[in-house]
Amino acid sequence: MSKTASEQTFEIVFEPEGKVVQASKGATILEIARSAGIPIEGPCGGDGTCGKCRVFAVGGLSEYSDAEKKHLSVEDRAQGIRLACQARVRSDVTVEVPRTTQLIAQRILESGAGREVALDPDTKAYPLALSKPTLEDQRTDFERIKQALPLDGELRGRLSLLRTLPRILRGNDFEITAVCSDDELIHVHDGRAVSPVYGIAFDIGTTTVVGYLIDLTTGEQIGVSASMNPQVVYGDDVIARLSFVIEDEGGLQKLHRAIIAALNEITETLAGQAHITPEDIYEMAIVGNTCMHHLFLNIDPSQLAPSPFVPVLSEAIWVHAEELNLSAYPQAHVHILPNISGYVGADIVGGILASGIFDTEDNVVLVDIGTNGEIVFSAKGKMVACATAAGPAFEGARISCGMRGAPGAIDQVVFGDDVEYTTIGNARPRGLCGSGLLDVVAEMVRVGVVDSSGRLVDPDDSDLSAPDRIRTRIRAGENGNDFLLVPAAEGEDGNALYITAKDVRELQLAKSAIRSGIDILMAEMGVSASELSCVLLAGAFGNYLRKESASAIGLLPPISVEKIHSIGNAAGEGAKLALISQTERKRAAVLAREIQYIELSTRMDFMEKFTDNMFF
Ligand code: FES
Repeated sequence: MSKTASEQTFEIVFEPEGKVVQASKGATILEIARSAGIPIEGPCGGDGTCGKCRVFAVGGLSEYSDAEKKHLSVEDRAQGIRLACQARVRSDVTVEVPRTTQLIAQRILESGAGREVALDPDTKAYPLALSKPTLEDQRTDFERIKQALPLDGELRGRLSLLRTLPRILRGNDFEITAVCSDDELIHVHDGRAVSPVYGIAFDIGTTTVVGYLIDLTTGEQIGVSASMNPQVVYGDDVIARLSFVIEDEGGLQKLHRAIIAALNEITETLAGQAHITPEDIYEMAIVGNTCMHHLFLNIDPSQLAPSPFVPVLSEAIWVHAEELNLSAYPQAHVHILPNISGYVGADIVGGILASGIFDTEDNVVLVDIGTNGEIVFSAKGKMVACATAAGPAFEGARISCGMRGAPGAIDQVVFGDDVEYTTIGNARPRGLCGSGLLDVVAEMVRVGVVDSSGRLVDPDDSDLSAPDRIRTRIRAGENGNDFLLVPAAEGEDGNALYITAKDVRELQLAKSAIRSGIDILMAEMGVSASELSCVLLAGAFGNYLRKESASAIGLLPPISVEKIHSIGNAAGEGAKLALISQTERKRAAVLAREIQYIELSTRMDFMEKFTDNMFF
């Protein structure tokens, strides 16, 4: 029987690897690359808006789409450049993925500032020498273990575990080690040799995943391992992931399986480094934003996309590791911290735990800046929180030369007589990440290249105080002026990097969203900027940005830079606290319930503040 048109398959060759893939007619190059495990940048998730998935392609392909005509110049098209998410195969195709489009791992922030807490984990191992049954002592095996344990209350044991008891007890002359997690006997093993009990705390970020291996008998961190979140090939931000779940049949399963695989890989790495096996992991604690939380649990997060953005679940829960196919002891308890709302997730709860702002007499703002800015204000025992859609500018997306914080990204910029910059890994400049964007715009504002409204001025503008070498970098662009940040001779692959008028506008939108969210919470608490004790910046962007630049462009309220503190990966630190302390986990559950969430879209004053805060 002959194949129908849609069933036809073609040969797609991906260079430079030379990998050959069979693909159905009508599939996009991006879809084919994803299923073949070829990592291509696709920040917008494939909806044709970011223009970052550029590839060279020759062969049978669909006509150029409107999105391609918008993002690709006539010269680009003449060279055979296509957007991978737009070009659909019609027959055999050869695709060359340029280095600038290959998805590369970004630098990952692993450490953060945490609190000292008393060690009080759920899971403990008890070496036991049990008395043997006699005609006078006919207690059951399970009863015998239960009464030997220093526990109050009931003890549960799953059928699969109960089945092992006769063999293990009698095979070891009734000398065993019982591993209990909360009120459950989860493992009984041979002998009474004291063995460490391990746990892993995971911070599941939208872009990166970090795992911390902890010895639960000492609280000591044994190892840390991190990776990119493999879901990034389906889009850089939460909105792109939600779109993928909504639009792709099986999208939820793909994203769920991807994150479980990433956690399992980290577990294997950590176990290997510590010379243990994943079966020695008896407990886990997980934090992540609400979307990551749902995807991890294989819960459909689609309803987070439209208003009113309600999650399926916010309460803290736990599951056995085997329920999620996690690489660990099958009955290991996996604790998932609670969310506060659809866009203020368990990662922020972790940050609150780690920073200790729930217990302060001061006026403290905690901000985690990403595609969404999550903000918490704490003052005298009361906490309010909000989330604000900052857009992806601080992640380097939707910026003409933007990129994630990976090797080659310009991460710091200072203007002297000319432009000075540094790149991650000291590589040739390939693009601009969020901290670099913040710096360059702050400097452009300082020397007058950008005026207070955000306009890139003309080089002969009378208010421009910039040195000549900076002034001559201003050029007429397609939509207003552009600023030449990196000449072609300096850039990777001979590419010049420009800051366009639109890039400045994207930064204005992002900084205004964050600042307006902070302003709303301050107004809610009746606190002025002069009364702020400090601003804590959590997360990667908050860690790498220059506080002076953040202050200069008005991203943060007007306070001295000495009052701005980066606290690193606070979410990960919070996950660690939740792993080693039942008290902290209970605290997290209470905090998530008690924090007052403010939905900014219901606030009439938000748009007013947003408009005001667009100015520099
Ligand atoms: S335009 Fe193709 S992934 Fe964004």
